[in-house]
Amino acid sequence: MIETKLHQDVLEIIISNAPVNALGAGVRSALSQAIETAQADDQVKVILLRGAGKLFSAGADITEFDQPPTGCTLPAVIDAIEASPKPVVAAIHGTALGGGLELALGCHYRLATPTAKLGLPEVSLGILPGAGGTQRLPRLVGLDAALNMIVSGSPVDATSALAMGLVDRLVDEEDFPTAAIAYARILDAPGRTRDKQVADDAGVLERFAAANARRIRSLDAPKACMTAVKASVELPIDEGLALERKLFAELVGGAQAKALRHAFFAERAAGKIADLPADTPRRPIAKVGVIGAGTMGGGISMNFLLAGMDVTIVEMTQDALDRGVALMRANYEASAKKGRLTREQVEHAMSLLTPTLAFDALADCDLVIEAVYENMEVKKEIFARLDAIAKPGAILASNTSYLSIDEIASATKRPADVLGLHFFSPANIMKLVEVVRGAATADDVLTTGMQVARSIGKVPVVARVCYGFIGNRMLIPRQDNAYAMLLEGATPEQIDRVHTDFGMPMGPLQMIDLAGVDIGWHRDTDRIESLQDALCAAGRWGQKTKAGFYNYDENRKPSPSPVVAEIIDGFRNRAGLKRRDISDDEIVARTLYTMVNEGAKILDENIAQRASDIDVVWLHGYGWPRHKGGPMFWADQIGLTTVSEGLARYADRIGDGFSMAPLLARQSADGGAPDK
Ligand code: 3HC
Repeated sequence: MIETKLHQDVLEIIISNAPVNALGAGVRSALSQAIETAQADDQVKVILLRGAGKLFSAGADITEFDQPPTGCTLPAVIDAIEASPKPVVAAIHGTALGGGLELALGCHYRLATPTAKLGLPEVSLGILPGAGGTQRLPRLVGLDAALNMIVSGSPVDATSALAMGLVDRLVDEEDFPTAAIAYARILDAPGRTRDKQVADDAGVLERFAAANARRIRSLDAPKACMTAVKASVELPIDEGLALERKLFAELVGGAQAKALRHAFFAERAAGKIADLPADTPRRPIAKVGVIGAGTMGGGISMNFLLAGMDVTIVEMTQDALDRGVALMRANYEASAKKGRLTREQVEHAMSLLTPTLAFDALADCDLVIEAVYENMEVKKEIFARLDAIAKPGAILASNTSYLSIDEIASATKRPADVLGLHFFSPANIMKLVEVVRGAATADDVLTTGMQVARSIGKVPVVARVCYGFIGNRMLIPRQDNAYAMLLEGATPEQIDRVHTDFGMPMGPLQMIDLAGVDIGWHRDTDRIESLQDALCAAGRWGQKTKAGFYNYDENRKPSPSPVVAEIIDGFRNRAGLKRRDISDDEIVARTLYTMVNEGAKILDENIAQRASDIDVVWLHGYGWPRHKGGPMFWADQIGLTTVSEGLARYADRIGDGFSMAPLLARQSADGGAPDK
């Protein structure tokens, strides 16, 4: 776990704990031993600390946070390094994150290669830097920069780190670690971070707290980060370190930290296909085709273009093609205006796009993604045409959000090459891609689908075929119950408030307004059989018509609509229903517990590989609050008995065909977790 190499008077200590040099108990104890031994060795004048492999260190071993502490602590190792009479130099390549960077902060000098990244991402795990980061970083870089790094959790690059005083010097990448060793040799007296003073920058803390109040309002960790950083100004370092340690201990076992750790590991697990070895081959993808230049087709194309891939986009009419291409450019330009893209990136991306009306232009694409509207006959016709022209080995994907990939694949003579790549709207922004594995999908087609999604910065999750796959299938009971509760007496505001209070970015009805109330509507204004029909017939199609369940102003700010209240009243009266008060408890049970119930069915039917995959779908496709881990994790935390009892309480109101998921019934009886 630790290797040492003596280069005359410089002792190299190398942290060697693949894959990310996490600082688990074994590493800490070996490192502490190596530092102690180096003190006693007269030959050693300077110690150089670095990581083996691709990086310096990813910090503490996160898997240890759920176990009782063992061996020497990281703060103790860092204190020993800082107290060393012989200079200790951190030589950073790749990344130094969390406890890894804190280790470097305890060293007397810091060197970094130009491509290195340095950060304290603990806040994203619901904790704060617990090995001195909140006290030493402000002493090196000042309050403002330290607050930004610690509270955002975002890493900085080596050049910025040099400019802010976080590293002392950049060293040549090609000549690493030799150049670092040569530099270490000329160092003498150790300079200790703890001896520096933090400049009390008047008002910085207050301004920072005010500017970030909304973003962090329900989160414990950023607040603790600010408290600890404040202590770096107000308290002697040892007292500051003690406070940091206390806050760390409080947070690490808390509900938010557990949920965020779950999310971290769930995301990594989702990338793995349970029944396929990691080295399953993939097909090379250089050229992508997209069928349909509507919002989805355009959004999907934008991802590939930005990743530097050639995209051919096909439409039926010149008008639709021109509109689609213009919208893509407008979206890129809006990002450039916000500083998220450079002008060069926009132009380069657009230069890789080939818009055409010629279907045959897809013949040399390695991957073709169909993104036309949801109609099985249309999709089958397209896949039959594709089958006739696509080159052998091309992957044929559908962006369908509900329909059977198996049936679509049956329109081709190569069902093994067909899969679903279900992007979420807006497709250039949302991270989730459900990679839908048909009954015949070949292994290398599936692994390529996963890899392609990752290569454009998405989070792919495998789903099997069913109506709506994972995410949208779970949305169905939520949506049905939201509509039903409106007729029974709830208001759109009440239903949505329960969800936004929970931490969702928007409630079910706000989401329908965003997506379009008219999705799936039959388009006959005289045929009014449901609330949706009535809203659509009244032109209330959602945000796009500035009227849906809510009225919208020019800034898309919603306000309650008396017209909607009237439409709902009219419906209720015609249905002979008596208005009653609906409790928040009922809304939770009928919209959130029903989703968990559907999730449990999805798991039982092997549509999802694991419960945590369902959580990843909701984190990245629908904005489930990360500090609540995802619906299945959340259900486990509040107790499956709570969920099943809540469902039972309202079972007769939940809607036709409601049935308790067998898995939920079984496991709540056992008191177990929803994972199998
Ligand atoms: N502890 C334990 N396991 C870790 C880990 C950590 N700190 N960081 C990564 N891993 C594991 C992953 O779970 C994954 O395991 P798997 O192969 O079994 O799925 C494996 O290492 C490889 O990780 P990635 O797939 O994420 O590899 P990448 O190359 O894509 O990314 C990375 C590397 C940027 C270092 C990324 O892993 C990362 O961001 N890690 C977490 C960094 C972090 O949050 N550090 C702070 C830890 S808390 C701390 O230090 C507390 C201190 O203040 C006391």
